[in-house]
Amino acid sequence: MQTFTRINEIREVLTSEKRQGRTIGFVPTLGNLHEGHMALIRAARAQADIVVASVFINPMQFAANEDLDAYPRTLGADQEKLIKEGTDFLFAPTAREMYPEGVNTQIIIPVLSNILCGASRPGHFTGVATICTKLFNIVQPDVAMFGEKDFQQLTIIRHMVNDLYIPVKIVGIQTGRAKDGLALSSRNTYLSANERKSAPVLYQCLLETKQALEQGARDYYQLELQANSTLKQAGFKPDYYHVMNRNTLETPTSADKQLIVLAAAQLGKSRLIDNLQIDL
Ligand code: PAF
Repeated sequence: MQTFTRINEIREVLTSEKRQGRTIGFVPTLGNLHEGHMALIRAARAQADIVVASVFINPMQFAANEDLDAYPRTLGADQEKLIKEGTDFLFAPTAREMYPEGVNTQIIIPVLSNILCGASRPGHFTGVATICTKLFNIVQPDVAMFGEKDFQQLTIIRHMVNDLYIPVKIVGIQTGRAKDGLALSSRNTYLSANERKSAPVLYQCLLETKQALEQGARDYYQLELQANSTLKQAGFKPDYYHVMNRNTLETPTSADKQLIVLAAAQLGKSRLIDNLQIDL
């Protein structure tokens, strides 16, 4: 695997790969890689000739109160994991390389960016959309992989590439889970031993809501209240817990068949998010 830190260098190599008729699969990451990321790499490998990953802790998607400096920087370990999975190229630029004049042009996706996680993380999705646009323009992938755990992010990226005619296929990859159901996340490392024991309650709530919906329950508000109460009892501070239309991320009508339950809750120092798709 070759690692590049400069835009012009990776562009040159990837342009040559494309000229030779090879397709490019791309996995953008913030680093601190775990098995969930490796599933994205394997999916990219299955769909393209060349696999490119990026590791960039994007300052633009961290709010002032979110500790950007404390985000784990594990480039050496990340490189080893990527090599093991047969990644061809890694792009690991500096902030100066990606924002040489600071934040200038911004990609704003209204409405979708301001609900759910966007309500408690103002500007976060503008940061994500802006960096993904930059990365797509640099890597020019045929296909890009995103985890379904960050379902709002995946939805926003899908809308963005559609609205801006960015020629990349966006593929959502199923959330990887620990044996007890906890969604794999870099943030799990912040959990204490006791918090780690309580953490699967979030997924259990999603399963209970799914079961209730499948059995005919339609009082979404009641289902949400019940889950919030279970989460509080388990030591979480719930941020949101909503049943939504999976395509629009709006409150579902009784005719909607493709639903999703989306949840975010603080557990100790970790803000855990998870979701479960439901087909009625
Ligand atoms: O989900 C992430 O890891 C990040 O938001 C992404 C897509 C790499 C953009 O920085």
